[in-house]
Amino acid sequence: MKCIFFLFFLVIMNLNIAQVSPIIPAPVVYQELNESLNFDGDLLVNFIGLSTNLQEQITHLAAIYHGIQFSNFSSGPKISFKKLENVKQDSYSINVSNEIVISFSSDVSCYYAFISLMQLIETTSSGFKLKKCFVKDYPKFSWRGLHLDVSRHFFTVEEVKKYIDLMSLYKFNTFHWHLTDDQGWRIEIKNFPKLTEIGGWRDSTMNNHYSTKPRTYTRHKYGGYYTQEQIKEVVAYANSKFVTIVPEIEMPGHSRAALAAYPEYSCTGIQQGVEGLWGVFDDIFCSKEETILFLQKILDEVILLFPGKYIHVGGDEAPKTRWEKCTNCQKVMHENNLKNEHQLQSYFIQRMDKYLTEKGRKLIGWDEILEGGLSSNAAVMSWRGFEGGVEAASQEHEVVMTPGSHCYFDHYQGKGSNEPIAIGGFTPLEKVYEFNPIPNQLNKKYEPYILGGQANVWTEYISDFDKVEYMVYPRALALSQALWCLEKPSFNAFKNVLMDKHLPFLKKMKVHYAKTIFSPKIEWEKSKKGVQFNIKSNDQGEIYEVESSEIKNNKISKMNFNVLQDECIEINRSEKDQINYTYYVRSKNDSSTTQFNIQATSSLGAPVKYITQPSASYNSGSLTLVDGQHGSLPWKRNEWIGFDTTEIDIEIDLLKRQKYKQLNVSFLSDEHSWIHFPEWIEVFYLRKGKWKHCSGPVQFSYLQSEQVRSFQIELNKPTRNVLVKIKSLTVIPNGLPGAGHIPWTFIDEIEVVK
Ligand code: ACM
Ligand code: ZN
Repeated sequence: MKCIFFLFFLVIMNLNIAQVSPIIPAPVVYQELNESLNFDGDLLVNFIGLSTNLQEQITHLAAIYHGIQFSNFSSGPKISFKKLENVKQDSYSINVSNEIVISFSSDVSCYYAFISLMQLIETTSSGFKLKKCFVKDYPKFSWRGLHLDVSRHFFTVEEVKKYIDLMSLYKFNTFHWHLTDDQGWRIEIKNFPKLTEIGGWRDSTMNNHYSTKPRTYTRHKYGGYYTQEQIKEVVAYANSKFVTIVPEIEMPGHSRAALAAYPEYSCTGIQQGVEGLWGVFDDIFCSKEETILFLQKILDEVILLFPGKYIHVGGDEAPKTRWEKCTNCQKVMHENNLKNEHQLQSYFIQRMDKYLTEKGRKLIGWDEILEGGLSSNAAVMSWRGFEGGVEAASQEHEVVMTPGSHCYFDHYQGKGSNEPIAIGGFTPLEKVYEFNPIPNQLNKKYEPYILGGQANVWTEYISDFDKVEYMVYPRALALSQALWCLEKPSFNAFKNVLMDKHLPFLKKMKVHYAKTIFSPKIEWEKSKKGVQFNIKSNDQGEIYEVESSEIKNNKISKMNFNVLQDECIEINRSEKDQINYTYYVRSKNDSSTTQFNIQATSSLGAPVKYITQPSASYNSGSLTLVDGQHGSLPWKRNEWIGFDTTEIDIEIDLLKRQKYKQLNVSFLSDEHSWIHFPEWIEVFYLRKGKWKHCSGPVQFSYLQSEQVRSFQIELNKPTRNVLVKIKSLTVIPNGLPGAGHIPWTFIDEIEVVK
């Protein structure tokens, strides 16, 4: 019957099928007519049958989107609500003719329907306009999540509520509240008051990026926590917005704040402070029975506060260093026939799984909980890629996909020099938009185990709420499409609706969203005489202002000019001296500026051949090495070429046979990320088709605190081709992160000067 009604509707409206709606996330069906309802501010409403909460939420939505009021006696269009039985779960439809009818299957779908309706209404000079239309909608995935780390930086109850309110407006339904970590315990536990009295506060916080050396600290007491009353308030608030909270209590790793309060639950018993440094720490919860009981008592209180099904117990990044040496842990292994410390971690998680299952809840943990064997009822949150999720789903366990490649909103979203400091990585809006929680490699029969996806917002480098919003918006809108839409509209269609309708709305809601989307995109390519860049943007015909300065022989010359999008600017190889250029590209749409520096040498834009292939994860192309732009700090994936082999051979064709004076090559060091300077470097030149030894091997010597090291190697040979041979350390030395593994070698830039 419903199908017939729908077909009839399509026929009488004489509609074409693929219309783009202004709604984000885009609905399953959207059909519009060339007629509109116009009204001046009031809607005649019939709330009969709606819960009090729904009535309140709908009234609130009407006010925040358009300042629209409801009345029982208005002359404006009539809006009515109809609850339908026996229809798809959480589905709704909106029918706008001479009046507005919202049909829904559940309270949440009524809430979502009304949000969609608000997004359809346009403001005109005399009031409001609503196109006559039909919308039919339901979500693709049941887990549509956003996470927030409140340990590294603390956010107030009001800020958390704003976070929840906004996410609900984009039809997210799961808030993952990361409440505990090494740098702060943020949830009051009545049985263990020291968790917040001591664990809620740190004495210092590191400055700058982790990789910046030497490290410095701000020595201020920093912290905070939520009382149980506040947590109840947030849970009730989320509930009113149809958002379920998944609390995370990290174990056995990321537990330094808890251990600062109760060191007796560590392996060593040694009292240490709450951490002020970011990273992964060796001191984790000991696996002895006393710790298990301590954590279960904590979970008892957590369960009482959070009514949702899932309780997150972390499980990620737990080094086994202490467990290997701890008599208590070794005893637990022996008594339970566990072969190694991974199995011990699995045992630890199984104890929590059993406990939570008995209490009618479900354990969820990061994908490391697969190591040593996945506990029988556990759900998995796959963050180190899709693989963990595929493995868990193939074992018929529930999975939430949050791969770093698409879902880490602590990564950079743009390449511009104006982007604020981020942990690293590069996850622009387009990349988030591409996200599909169901990877190709998953056997179809296991697809139902993928509940959905989520973005994670780790806050090491996000110290205030404005920046949280900057990192989350508008990327969350791209994610909402990926998690909601049966079929996503094209990225460009999404971007147009985003810019046209949703960024203005976010502005009205005082959301400090990122304007990265307006920054010009600079695309680099080789040119005949060096390199060139094209300025690209989606805004048709945008004009950019470019300011450049050129430093040659200590003389500065400056230029200012306008360019149209798609115009290209060439920078030539330097025939003699090194020439330094600085460019500032300013978008006229907003005042953001992208700046870059270029050093033009004889190798600018020269063909580079990787005899040894870089790692696919750190290969932004061969031009990166010779584009005149030196990899910056904190390092970004796209600026450095990364190798995971001990020998690296790179050939450069300088296009002209002549005598070159010197070759410069720069390397990166970041021990925490297993990136080390190489051991030695050697250079060859091509003569009569044969590689001849030119210089080296030059041994590396450097200071521990150096982060970038540039090497100068003498050439002084007439040649057109050079071969650079680099030898890394065979393994990372003991005592350093990743000891025993092959280190990464990161290179940028290679320059040849005449
Ligand atoms: C994680 O990012 N360590 C889950
Ligand atoms: Zn132990």
